[in-house]
Amino acid sequence: MSLLVIGANGRLGRQVVTHFEAAGHQVWRTSHREPADFHLDLAEPVGRWATALPSCITHAWVCSGTGQPEVCHREPQSTRLLNVDHTVDLLGGLLDRGIKPIICSTAEVFAGRRGSYREDDQTGPGTEFGRQKKDLETWLLAQGRPCLVVRLTQLYTTDAPDTSPVGALLASLLAGETVAAADDEVLCPTFVGDIPGAVERLTRAGANGVYHVANPTTWTAYALALLLANRLGRARLVERTSLREQLGAGHRLPNTSLDVRRVLATGFRFSALEERLPAILEANCAPAAA
Ligand SMILES: NC(=O)c1ccc[n+]([C@@H]2O[C@H](COP(=O)([O-])OP(=O)(O)OC[C@H]3O[C@@H](n4cnc5c(N)ncnc54)[C@H](OP(=O)(O)O)[C@@H]3O)[C@@H](O)[C@H]2O)c1
Repeated sequence: MSLLVIGANGRLGRQVVTHFEAAGHQVWRTSHREPADFHLDLAEPVGRWATALPSCITHAWVCSGTGQPEVCHREPQSTRLLNVDHTVDLLGGLLDRGIKPIICSTAEVFAGRRGSYREDDQTGPGTEFGRQKKDLETWLLAQGRPCLVVRLTQLYTTDAPDTSPVGALLASLLAGETVAAADDEVLCPTFVGDIPGAVERLTRAGANGVYHVANPTTWTAYALALLLANRLGRARLVERTSLREQLGAGHRLPNTSLDVRRVLATGFRFSALEERLPAILEANCAPAAA
């Protein structure tokens, strides 16, 4: 495989580059501001950008985007231009070159109420981030060409700073702040380093269409906060609440967990959060925890 990674310096993009290079694939990096093989700024129209790519590229993994749902909520127009309109232009150029695109979508394409969503369940995004991803999925799938749509959930890293719910909870606990954690908010924290291996299995199997790629183990926000707080000896800082009681939680989705049986059928196993915890603590909290 000869893989083009777009957004190669992002949280996921870095892991994709490292994984596929280590696995012996040819990897090309694209970035909008860091040194890379190609430059691409998706805030600008894409034009005929893909025509300059080497003909040996077989796959392109689009890891770019605003990443943060809050930003999409605050700035729907500018984020839609980047995440949807210009990304659609990019995907069109890649398809014209016979390159198979892999795009990153989200569990937020679902309403986020009941959880355990399957790939073919009815979508119905309740957030702007989810709507943008859904529109991108719809456009790509309508082209009827080989492609892969991977729906992801809360990706955590062992690099500092981690902005996922895991990193955010740790930061508050380490700052000595009381953490109000809902026992009716279901999370699927997934180690970002697991994603490339899972998707490599899918590409090797020639998979096309939509796949849920997330850790099968779910946590309530309360259970997750307690796990982290206990490791830090700060369990007293965790306050059990519900989303209904939490001020400002009105826009949060109670349960976006995904049914991941299709990706597990490839034989891939996700790492347990507990197994990653020492590295998370070391990377994110070492100075403060000392
Ligand atoms: N993190 C999650 O929990 C999560 C959950 C569901 C879906 N996703 C999706 O998964 C993908 C990767 O997420 P992530 O967490 O790795 O996001 P991230 O760390 O925010 O990385 C996104 C990357 O997009 C690139 N980018 C930003 N502005 C750009 C621009 N104007 N033009 C071109 N590229 C630009 C940047 O890479 P360069 O600096 O290399 O250009 C940036 O590092 C995103 O599409 C995200 O929406 C993430």
